[in-house]
Amino acid sequence: MSLTPISGRRLDKSGLDESRAKVTTASLRERKLRHEPITCLTAYDYSAARLVDEAGIDVVLVGDSLAQTMLGYENTLSVTMDEMLHHVKAVRRGVKSALLVADMPYGSYQVDPKDAVRNAARFVKEGGAEVVKIEGGEKRAELIRQIIDAEIPVAGHIGLTPQSVNVMGGYKVQGKSLSGIEQLMRDAVALDRAGVACLYLEGIPREVAALITGEVGTPTIGIGAGPECDGQVLVFHDILNLTFGPPAKFVRRYGDAAAMITGAVQAFREDVRSRQYPSDNESYHLPAETKAGLDTVLERKRAMRR
Ligand code: KIV
Repeated sequence: MSLTPISGRRLDKSGLDESRAKVTTASLRERKLRHEPITCLTAYDYSAARLVDEAGIDVVLVGDSLAQTMLGYENTLSVTMDEMLHHVKAVRRGVKSALLVADMPYGSYQVDPKDAVRNAARFVKEGGAEVVKIEGGEKRAELIRQIIDAEIPVAGHIGLTPQSVNVMGGYKVQGKSLSGIEQLMRDAVALDRAGVACLYLEGIPREVAALITGEVGTPTIGIGAGPECDGQVLVFHDILNLTFGPPAKFVRRYGDAAAMITGAVQAFREDVRSRQYPSDNESYHLPAETKAGLDTVLERKRAMRR
């Protein structure tokens, strides 16, 4: 048996913590109690996962938003268990310290609780996920208990739940009326009692997110839910301008990967077309002895042709 090491901080040249302790569901709760904000970003492949993990983000979420960002689907409804698993496995290989959360896709938990537990177990067993995320409020509480009974930690997700887009009639901020607030409070409390490891709050007024965060013991992680949540999550592609559309109100762009990639690709194209790439330095060369031998053979051939 091995224990999670609690080592001293060792910073590399860029100030990143090389010896970061493993983030666990227990350490997330401690963070809430200490009022230390939790950071979460999505990642969908190995390279992004490594960068996010090594930058010190606490939670890496393989969100079903990969349906749009990685696979070009219209919404999250089409992505399958097998597609999600493929990405979870890649992310697992890139994440060392962060807590790895995998999103259960639409249809993988709504139909039959036994299927739901089986699918959640696939994320853990085949994908290496540490937590699975499920959308929906109090109506999911019993299912969440069953998944936790199978030794699988669950993250809840309430408010604007994209898998319910057709029922909500679009991507609309939730909890704007008194009855909406009451429903969200009931949802949050039911999931907290069911034992969720954390609770994602998406697209709700900050006042409501603050109320929920104060009411529940589980850490809340907000997206479009204001600054009073215990943590914040954003989509990797949103913060890097890789989404090909106008960002939502809550998105802050921290970089322009689209401009960087386009510039690099255009420069490569120009270099190839103008024969600037590859240079002699970027080419392999024959050993001197072989080159001399080859020159002799070619010279002999030329002489025979004369
Ligand atoms: O799929 C996703 O990216 C999510 C986050 C936005 C919470 O569920």
